Amino acid sequence: MSARQIKISPSMMCADFLHLEEEVRLLEANGVEWLHIDVMDGHYVPNFTLGIDYCRALASATSIPLDIHLMIENPERHIEPFCTLPGARVTFHPETVYQPVRVIERIRELGASPGIAIDPAQTVQQFQHLIPLVDQVMVMTVNPGYAGQKLIPFCLDKIAEVREFIRCTGLATEIEVDGNVSWVNIPKMIEAGADILVLGTSALFEKHRSRKESLADLRQLLGR
Ligand code: DX5
Ligand code: ZN
Repeated sequence: MSARQIKISPSMMCADFLHLEEEVRLLEANGVEWLHIDVMDGHYVPNFTLGIDYCRALASATSIPLDIHLMIENPERHIEPFCTLPGARVTFHPETVYQPVRVIERIRELGASPGIAIDPAQTVQQFQHLIPLVDQVMVMTVNPGYAGQKLIPFCLDKIAEVREFIRCTGLATEIEVDGNVSWVNIPKMIEAGADILVLGTSALFEKHRSRKESLADLRQLLGR
């Protein structure tokens, strides 16, 4: 499907909270590259989810690095404890701050890997100049805030747009895709240029299938 090595980042808000340790050990055994942590504040998005205590607990229990997705207002006030977790990647939505460059620099200064997220309502063009400064561009393919939503089709074009910019500029920036990363959508997302798939209720954490079945299908689909 693609010569690129596709990485996976399971969305931990979709995991079974009552069997979290079991979930983490299974993901470790399957060599997942990241654990995706959705942090929501009830302001930037209407929902509340995971926070710093959850991240600390996970970081102390596993060496899989955390892929922290901040869906919060004023991220500059809250980044520090997330950035000091070992090997963390911290992605924020640049429209939530006046000086996104300062936030990117601060994330790096604190020892984390910075990323920017592109909400469906934002264009790639308006944040293109920030791409050389970050390690990851996350293209959101649903409105941020909830698991279990349907793909917004025009967001696939944004993955291709970021991929083209990265190709032309020779950058090593990774493209992550977040939202309705389903069995049907994965090939289209990879085709458009995604490097990292955030896997939530649409694939890995599907209710009617066992985790082991989904992981086996993923291995086959991605050639892992
Ligand atoms: C959406 C979240 C995603 C979501 C993806 O705001 O950032 O992590 O959980 O999972 P599904 O597959 O349910 O869209
Ligand atoms: Zn997310």
